[in-house]
Amino acid sequence: MRGACACAVVCALVALCAAESGSPRAALDEATRAAAERQLLALLGLPRKPSPPAPAPPVPKALRVLYDERGALPATAANTARSFHHTTTRLDDRFPHEHRFRLYFNVTGVPADEVARGADLTFHRADGATTAQRLLLYDVVRPGRRGRSEPILRLLDSVPLRPGAEAVRVDAVGAARRWLAEPSENHGLLVRVIEQNENGTDARLPHVRVRRRVNESVEQWHGLQPLLLLYTEDERARAARERGETILTRSKRGAARRGHRAHHRRKEAREICQRRPLFVDFADVGWSNWIVAPHGYDAYYCQGDCPFPLADHLNGTNHAIVQTLVNSVNPAAVPKACCVPTQLSSISMLYLDEQNNVVLKNYQDMMVMGCGCR
Ligand SMILES: *[C@@H]1O[C@H](CO)[C@@H](O)[C@H](O)[C@H]1NC(C)=O
Ligand SMILES: *[C@@H]1O[C@H](CO)[C@@H](O)[C@H](O)[C@H]1NC(C)=O
Ligand SMILES: *[C@@H]1O[C@H](CO)[C@@H](O)[C@H](O)[C@H]1NC(C)=O
Ligand SMILES: *[C@@H]1O[C@H](CO)[C@@H](O)[C@H](O)[C@H]1NC(C)=O
Repeated sequence: MRGACACAVVCALVALCAAESGSPRAALDEATRAAAERQLLALLGLPRKPSPPAPAPPVPKALRVLYDERGALPATAANTARSFHHTTTRLDDRFPHEHRFRLYFNVTGVPADEVARGADLTFHRADGATTAQRLLLYDVVRPGRRGRSEPILRLLDSVPLRPGAEAVRVDAVGAARRWLAEPSENHGLLVRVIEQNENGTDARLPHVRVRRRVNESVEQWHGLQPLLLLYTEDERARAARERGETILTRSKRGAARRGHRAHHRRKEAREICQRRPLFVDFADVGWSNWIVAPHGYDAYYCQGDCPFPLADHLNGTNHAIVQTLVNSVNPAAVPKACCVPTQLSSISMLYLDEQNNVVLKNYQDMMVMGCGCR
């Protein structure tokens, strides 16, 4: 049967699409549909379908830029970028000073199989910050206890705050790695800003933005507040990397926008094995509320005949050539070789997780680049 040759991803998507579109072929019962959706979510590394509130939170600009660059992440081996804003906690009251403050990032929602490969914390400079300062970032390894013990701090990074610079980025990977390994040991980050040329700290001098001003809208503040971008590698990506699989990036994003609805075209049985169009529209699947981008993508599929003698452009293996040969002699003994994807590429997706954080993830093997007889 030809359907058995198609890859599992496309089958799952098509099953869902067919179910949602209400076409006559959509004779899927609820149980099958639920199973297909579960399988697809598992493939995306999600325990269940996220259900973000409406309106969805805005996508941080830095994450949008990474997405537009086709998911090229700045951390080696990472396949996921997760964005976080800090959450205020009671402990913050212990740091009332502008030049010494605490930031807590709740990363408990990061799946257990993900390993930190990089973490960039970005601050925006305050208006009127004209002096040369230095920002020191510490991991609070153990919090201090008032009157009893000093905190244990580990310096993570130290960067100059140059006059005129709009933003500054510090490396927090040392802390992020620890938080993912031991979630209960996340006591936040301590940030200190010191004057570059003096010993002391002048609390009157503006430095970086850490608090929303009363006259500032939530939208304005969203683009200015500290942002943590955590780059991780999940189990699936690590296994693929260890197997030595290369990740192809897709050739044309524009193709997805021009795409058409998911459907199998009826093909004549005699057509030769080749790549055929298949556009998967996330709206059809009912997933457009949590997948921010893309709206859909060109998955393609492989279909067609693998006739004897197997031509070179059909990318056949020696084994496929032999199988085709045997089939031509005795069709009852073995079937013909199968038309399958021989080259797949990844796509990037921006979505909202259950904690409402925007995530960028690169998914391998989502799009067919080449077909062949195997
Ligand atoms: C962190 O987030 C989780 C899940 O959203 C929540 O249950 C937990 O209370 C949060 N922790 C803190 C310290 O805010
Ligand atoms: C900074 O410290 C050095 C020695 O540690 C001292 O000589 C100098 O006077 C100090 N500067 C200021 C502005 O306090
Ligand atoms: C908000 O107030 C500050 C002074 O506290 C001022 O510098 C800034 O321009 C104001 N921003 C807006 C958007 O009105
Ligand atoms: C065979 O593979 C190449 C490279 O991946 C591809 O360009 C070509 O289209 C494939 N042949 C078929 C029939 O898809």
